[in-house]
Amino acid sequence: MSAAHNDEVRRKITTKSLTEMKQAGQRIVALTAYDHLMAQELDRAGIDVILVGDSVAMVVQGLETTVTVTLDHMLYHAALVSRGVDRALVVGDLPFMSYQVNCDDALRNSGRMVKESHVEAVKLEGGEPICPTVFRLVEAGIPVMGHLGLTPQSIHKFGSYQVRATTEEEAHVLRRDARALADAGAFAIVLEKIPASLAKEISQELDVPVIGIGAGSGCDGQILVSHDMLGLYTRFHPRFVRRYAQLGEEMLGAFKRFADDVRTGDFPGVDESY
Ligand code: KIV
Repeated sequence: MSAAHNDEVRRKITTKSLTEMKQAGQRIVALTAYDHLMAQELDRAGIDVILVGDSVAMVVQGLETTVTVTLDHMLYHAALVSRGVDRALVVGDLPFMSYQVNCDDALRNSGRMVKESHVEAVKLEGGEPICPTVFRLVEAGIPVMGHLGLTPQSIHKFGSYQVRATTEEEAHVLRRDARALADAGAFAIVLEKIPASLAKEISQELDVPVIGIGAGSGCDGQILVSHDMLGLYTRFHPRFVRRYAQLGEEMLGAFKRFADDVRTGDFPGVDESY
């Protein structure tokens, strides 16, 4: 790899670079992180966007849904992640009810994410109804990533994690919501678990980058939950998750070997003692 290419690869990612990547037909790579160590490895791997997702509730905190994670939890995890990242754009998820009550609340809470946790953008769920808030945040200087399709914070409203926008009526609403978010100033939109053809159409239609999760290959980029793709979170395995490692199995094996070694007196050895 040439030094020039290396410099290019290490160039700090901003919301503007993501737009440029879309224009250049360069796919955007995004993953989640919730702690410093994983954030560092993601950044070293050249991941473009690191999302401190409210999925932390399920994959780290052991909760059933993302609904109950608090703003204080998100502020804590986002601060750990930001500290480990030089190049990637760090986006912090706004938790349920931290932005829906009114614009002032959303502004205050997003401001805390930026000032206290050093994220460079926030993500929120919802379409047209949330656009006045998106506009207000962007106007205040806080970049916003939208999230449409399967919006896990609304799980109690929908009652399932099934694929969304499968009827023409729902697809129409989703197209309208995506356009409204872009018009309100969102710098990127996550589309989760919707038909690939619809995601491709929206990606082609909008100037802002569309990042898919379970939305097919026609998006401008892809995101997965790191704990899913690493095989660390195995409670369920959505079809859109490709497992790149089996770290859960690896960890279990290591813990069992350690336990055996302690019980048999094999650990610590002479070389591991003073
Ligand atoms: O919280 C999260 O991890 C997310 C991604 C699934 C996009 O919102």
